[in-house]
Amino acid sequence: MPRTGSRLKTADLTDRVVVVTGAGSGIGREVALLCARRHARLALCDINEAALDGTAGMAEKLGVEVLTYQVDVSDADSMIRFAHATFEHFGQVDLLVNNAGVGLVGGFLDTNVKDWQWLININLMGVVHSCDAFLPGMIESGRGGHVVNLSSAAGLLANPQLTAYSATKFAVLGLSEALRMELKPHGIGVTAVCPGIINTAITQNSVIRGAADVDARRKHLVSTYQKRGYTPERVAKNILRAVARNRAVAPVASEAHVMYVLSRTAPPLARWLAARAAEFSK
Ligand SMILES: NC(=O)c1ccc[n+]([C@@H]2O[C@H](COP(=O)([O-])OP(=O)(O)OC[C@H]3O[C@@H](n4cnc5c(N)ncnc54)[C@H](O)[C@@H]3O)[C@@H](O)[C@H]2O)c1
Repeated sequence: MPRTGSRLKTADLTDRVVVVTGAGSGIGREVALLCARRHARLALCDINEAALDGTAGMAEKLGVEVLTYQVDVSDADSMIRFAHATFEHFGQVDLLVNNAGVGLVGGFLDTNVKDWQWLININLMGVVHSCDAFLPGMIESGRGGHVVNLSSAAGLLANPQLTAYSATKFAVLGLSEALRMELKPHGIGVTAVCPGIINTAITQNSVIRGAADVDARRKHLVSTYQKRGYTPERVAKNILRAVARNRAVAPVASEAHVMYVLSRTAPPLARWLAARAAEFSK
C-alpha cells in the first residue's frame, strides 16, 4: 500500500538504503558519508572507480554496509545493472540521490554540438537513466521514499557563461517538478537541489571553452570557489534537511536563495545581475 504523502525522516537512517550517483567526490561523497553517519546502508556508483573506492572505504569505517558499482550514468544499461545489483543485495531503496554531473564553462558560441551531447547525456540523461532504473522497484515495494536530483543555481537563473550547463540544469529542475507530482500517489517525494558556488573538484573537472587563456580562466574559477568557501559537507546537511521537509526546490548557499527569489519575483533584475556576474567570472 503506497504511503501517500509520507516523509523520509533523515535524522536517523537506520534500516534505510540510500543510492548516490557520482559518490566519488564532492557533494556525492559528502552525502554518502553523512548518510553513513546516520546509519544508512549505501549503494554508491561513480565513473571513477578509485574515487568511488575511496568513499566506500570511508563509509565502511563508519560501520555501514556499502555496495559499489562503477557506472557511467550516461549509459542506460550500466545503470540498469547497478539497480538490479542494489535491489538484489539490499531488497529496497529508500533514497535515490541523482548527483553525478559535469561542468562546462562557456557561452553558446564557444561550444559545439558534441559538447552539448556529452553534457546532456550526463547531466540530464544520467538522471533519466537512474530514475528509469530505480523507480519501478521503489514503486513496486510500496515503501514510499524520496528522489533528490542535483540541479543548480544555474538551473534557476540562466548564466551566459554556462549556457549548455544552465540548459541541462533547467531541464533537471523541470523533470523534478513534474516527477514530484507524478510520484506523489506512490508516497515518493522529489526534491530538486540547487546549490550556488560550492568548493569541490568541479572547478578542476569542468571543461572550459572559449577562453583565450584556459589556465588563467581555470585559476580564476578555482580561486573564486575557494574564496566563497561553501563546503560540500554543508550541502549534504542541507540536502538531508530538504528531504525530511519534502521540499520541492531546495536552493543551497545564500547566492542560490537570492537567485531563486529574484528569478521568480523580479526576472529582469535577476537577468541583469546574472549578466554582470558572468562578466565578472570571465
Ligand atoms: N560544485 C558546485 O558549485 C555545484 C553547484 C551546483 C550544482 N552542482 C552539481 O552537483 C553535482 C555534484 O557536483 P560536485 O561539485 O560534487 O562535483 P565533483 O566533480 O566534485 O563530483 C562529481 C562526481 O560525479 C562523477 N561523475 C562525473 N561524470 C560521471 C558519469 N558520467 N557517470 C558517473 N559518475 C560521474 C565524478 O567522477 C565525480 O566523482 C553535479 O551534478 C553538479 O552539477 C555543483
